[in-house]
Amino acid sequence: MTDLLAGLSLRDLETRNRIAVSPMCQYSCDPDGLPTEWHRVHLGSRAVGGAGIVMTEATAVSPEGRITPHDLGIWSDDHAEALEPITEFIREQGGVPAIQLAHAGHKASKERPWEGHVPIQPDETGPSGAAGWEVLSPSPDAYPPFDGDRPAMRKAEQDDIEGVIDAYRAAAERSLAAGFEIAEVHAAHGYLLHEFLSPVTNHREDDYGGSFENRTRLVREVVAAVREVWPDDKPVFVRISGTDWLDDRESWDIEQSVRLADDLADLGVDLVDVSSGGLHPDQSISGGPNFQVPLAEQVREGADVAVGAVGGVTEPEQADALIRNERADLVLVGREFLRDPYFGLRATGDLERDPDAVAKEWPVQYRRATQR
Ligand SMILES: Cc1cc2nc3c(=O)[nH]c(=O)nc-3n(C[C@H](O)[C@H](O)[C@H](O)COP(=O)(O)O)c2cc1C
Repeated sequence: MTDLLAGLSLRDLETRNRIAVSPMCQYSCDPDGLPTEWHRVHLGSRAVGGAGIVMTEATAVSPEGRITPHDLGIWSDDHAEALEPITEFIREQGGVPAIQLAHAGHKASKERPWEGHVPIQPDETGPSGAAGWEVLSPSPDAYPPFDGDRPAMRKAEQDDIEGVIDAYRAAAERSLAAGFEIAEVHAAHGYLLHEFLSPVTNHREDDYGGSFENRTRLVREVVAAVREVWPDDKPVFVRISGTDWLDDRESWDIEQSVRLADDLADLGVDLVDVSSGGLHPDQSISGGPNFQVPLAEQVREGADVAVGAVGGVTEPEQADALIRNERADLVLVGREFLRDPYFGLRATGDLERDPDAVAKEWPVQYRRATQR
């Protein structure tokens, strides 16, 4: 029986276990989007802590695609060069470095959460002194004001769409140069690609709006561009919101997610990472243990692709049960990895019965800690 400590094989990649650090924004760059010491220590310590996959936060494929001026970016060769020592360190620790490639769409140009998270207009500067910018949206008329405020928005025209696809392709090439082994396309949480997917935020009447095929066109084109430059021996993931949690209106739901997952698999996607929501303030969502797992399970049952489950996983036994019961192929852990950077080592200690095997998972520098 496959369990949490079993490696996951995807193409030529094999992970040491099925635990991944879920992408988590740190908003800790200068406005140049280059990684700082914070990123090196934050990602590095989770690799030391035994995660099989260490994924970066949402990393912007272009400056306009940042949520805040302080997001991590991968829009130049300088970014790739600056990220390389981090991927090298993750690999040295036995982890697989992964990058989440993102464009924030209409949710861009905001202050950091701890500075209020409200939009910064193009002619304003936020509390850190960084300027805002005009954000991109499939249909500006579709947006509710964000906490009574609204960023300056521009409708994505054909050349903007081509620019986004090109930015994803170039970002994937740079990610490869930086040493990442998994590229994850962020198509969840109300950011640009999800905005195109959902009829709530996509009111377009061109080839990118209306039917399922049209609304999914951009994500399929982005994935095809990434797959084109990402080597055949390395996996591509896509994170989706399994549902908008807006049952009272025509919206993105689990049936469409299953259908999309199959289309993505046909394009060479190896794993669909199933999150949810984030599109609209009216969403009706409840958290708690495993709160999104039923969505992952439905995608796993309905589509021919490996699936990652995320949300409310805090205990090794709980994560192990998701794999043993074939509810998911990979477990992504977010907030628990902030509480405990050594969650991966904790899982090995709790689940592995052979003390020598446990010790082997620990960094040599820390191995004495496995003895009393
Ligand atoms: C501080 C923080 C930052 C996050 N940033 C991202 C992000 O950059 N990309 C993303 O897809 N999800 C992001 N998320 C969502 C997490 O990846 C994860 O899906 C969510 O927290 C649920 O998992 P958990 O219950 O294990 O925390 C973030 C969550 C937190 C807590």
